[in-house]
Amino acid sequence: MNKQNLIYLKEQFLKYTDGFILNSDEKNNPFFLKKEHTQRVCSEILMLADKLAISSQQAMLAESAALLHDIGRFRQYKEYGTFLDAQSVNHAALGCEVIKDENLLGFCSDKEQNILLDLVFFHNAFDLPVDMDQDTLFLLKLLRDADKLDIWTVVTDYYFSADLNNNKFINLGLEDDGEFSKKAWESILKGQVVKNEFVKRLNDLKLLQISWVFDLNFSESVKEIQTKGCLGKIFSTLPESEELERVAEYVKNYIKEKTS
Ligand SMILES: [Fe+2]
Repeated sequence: MNKQNLIYLKEQFLKYTDGFILNSDEKNNPFFLKKEHTQRVCSEILMLADKLAISSQQAMLAESAALLHDIGRFRQYKEYGTFLDAQSVNHAALGCEVIKDENLLGFCSDKEQNILLDLVFFHNAFDLPVDMDQDTLFLLKLLRDADKLDIWTVVTDYYFSADLNNNKFINLGLEDDGEFSKKAWESILKGQVVKNEFVKRLNDLKLLQISWVFDLNFSESVKEIQTKGCLGKIFSTLPESEELERVAEYVKNYIKEKTS
């Protein structure tokens, strides 16, 4: 892959996504939100690539993966009217189909195509694959961290915004009933990412988002989220309870440990 290839891929991305954006008259154009998310994930991954001083070749692959990671979201929303994979399709698998159908990587070697398809396919998997080669795994870790760094910014802004309850693309249609799931709470105290099946209401989703910190792969990413202060902000929107204070303390100590 070279610089020209990356410029071409960016053009293809814009051409593909603008087709959805321009044809949508929905409030908070969901396609536009995904395009913006993608562009910010590209910035986050380049920031991490820079901090980790990776080669320019690896950085170009990383940026390409960031550009393509959510390409399945466009067809997903158009066909199913939701970004919830559980109610539609796995958007990562769909993304791989789109990449092939649209021949977005026709300019790449077979090896690069396979790497990028693997990165897209596994970007949202609950666990990292066990049999991936080390170079690809490294890029996958970068992509997953960069993706989370942007999602945290988006959801934190949303929880502090005026149109709360009004953005089903971000709150996934979940209600704030003032409660939270014991299982989500317990997962965090075990240092585990909350499973999707424990997410029944908005506060559970917030706990899931907080628990992503355990899934970060690089201390640079943990430092970044510490600087952004997103997790503390999300905590401040949860109900007051002793149990949640324990969770906040646990996460605070975890971050301290990872960044010192
Ligand atoms: Fe995604």
